[in-house]
Amino acid sequence: MTIETEEIRLEPCEPGALTPDELRTLFLFEKLTDEQLRWLADHGCTMRVPGGGLVVREGDPAESFFVLLTGTIALTRRVGADDVETTRTEQRGVYMGATQAYLRDDGVPRKYQASMRALSDSEFFTVSAADFGRLMREWFPMAIHLLEGLALGIASSQAAIGERQRLAALGALSAGLMHELNNPAAAAARATGALRQRVAAMRMKLGKLAAGKVAPDRLTALLELQEEVIERAAKAPVLTAMQTADLEDELGDWMEEHNITGGWDVAPVFAQGGIDTECLSQIEARLASAELLDQAIHWIGYALETEQLMTDIEDATGRVSSLVSAAKQYSHLDRAAHQWIDVHGGLDSTLVMLGHKIGEGVRVVKDYDRTLPQVPAHPAELNQVWTNLIDNAVHAMKGQGTLTIRTYREDDTVVVSVADDGPGMPAEVRKRVFEPFFTTKPVGEGTGLGLDISYRIVVNGHGGDIQVSSEPGNTRFLVRLPITEPASV
Ligand SMILES: Nc1ncnc2c1ncn2[C@@H]1O[C@H](COP(=O)(O)OP(=O)(O)OP(=O)(O)O)[C@@H](O)[C@H]1O
Ligand SMILES: [Mg+2]
Repeated sequence: MTIETEEIRLEPCEPGALTPDELRTLFLFEKLTDEQLRWLADHGCTMRVPGGGLVVREGDPAESFFVLLTGTIALTRRVGADDVETTRTEQRGVYMGATQAYLRDDGVPRKYQASMRALSDSEFFTVSAADFGRLMREWFPMAIHLLEGLALGIASSQAAIGERQRLAALGALSAGLMHELNNPAAAAARATGALRQRVAAMRMKLGKLAAGKVAPDRLTALLELQEEVIERAAKAPVLTAMQTADLEDELGDWMEEHNITGGWDVAPVFAQGGIDTECLSQIEARLASAELLDQAIHWIGYALETEQLMTDIEDATGRVSSLVSAAKQYSHLDRAAHQWIDVHGGLDSTLVMLGHKIGEGVRVVKDYDRTLPQVPAHPAELNQVWTNLIDNAVHAMKGQGTLTIRTYREDDTVVVSVADDGPGMPAEVRKRVFEPFFTTKPVGEGTGLGLDISYRIVVNGHGGDIQVSSEPGNTRFLVRLPITEPASV
């Protein structure tokens, strides 16, 4: 039975069982006045827990303050899939539970930070969190100010570090995005330059054609021919490099036979458009004039080329828009914070955003179950999780390997698995990966916060779970997200 499902069965507690003098023997209370001890004796009670029993569960509302009287206890914290024992003690007087109940209530109920189990039959002196908080504030007002300052300091330095990590991640990401955007933008600019030249040349050619005493009906025929060829090019099957080279040769020969000026230069344009010699012969037949044929071939060549350049521009600008929309989806700039989402959108946009980082050497396998239900989530936060997991996987594989992203349903959860075939990690690393600042990267390279943040997003923010399994060649992070709305989201 795991701690999450285990029931807490405490014996009823006995109020006023300890006298002020007995309480004074506990180191925590030794300096209290008689009056204070009396108050404590009246408000506290004594509780017995049989060996093996769970006393408090991590994450439950912190309702009581405990002082150990007899017995042995162990404290554990949940780290990833494991319960890690942090303390084991039989020291009389140690305290735990609602130890921070005296801090000013900022509207968020405090929770137990660890689970506590009695390892042998144990006895505790307990006070309710409310009473404990009240006595601390009333009896030690100055100490409370100092403690509050300390707690605030720790919280704000944690927030600052988290913010810093997010900024660093954002910086790396926008650098990647800029790189990705640069290629299509440069391609579009190049194609536009070439297009301008071709269009200028076409205007000249049109002038020549018109001046060449071509009968108007011939000119009309030529224009019709041009449209047919372009339509044909648009539907042309994609050829292999080898097939294209063969076609170029054939076309070049045909042009040479028909004395087309610069025939070998225009041949590749026709080959790319999927135009074969048969089609050229049809053109020849339709024109029935050797002189016009030369002009017509070049004219159609230009038309094909401009068409191809415009397709290039369309592709490049399309790529720019799809990158921008991936970036938008990734950061969810345009949406509300918490919503019902299909996990695949976020996974895909994260993959696009990290495209540059993933690189050529990594094969990405997507094994999605498209029938998965939507989950209640903060999409931008989940994208941080996917980013951290994918980033770690790519780093582990050193740019070479297979990254497998799988989604499937298990009971009432949607599972996202991010797996890599890198070297994996030894058990002592695996146990610690979710700890803040744990990293095996050289100083300055990794913050060791990636998985800590991911853990907090998935577990605290979404009521889900994140687990890792690893052996050489197979490291797998499993993120489970509940498909029903948890109270905390
Ligand atoms: N897929 C993986 N394969 C092998 N080791 C991993 C993998 N994912 C995480 N680790 C180990 O877990 C450690 C902690 O990961 P975490 O993402 O928290 O920090 P980091 O990657 O070291 O730093 P940062 O995320 O700031 O770059 C890593 O240093 C690495 O040793
Ligand atoms: Mg990392």
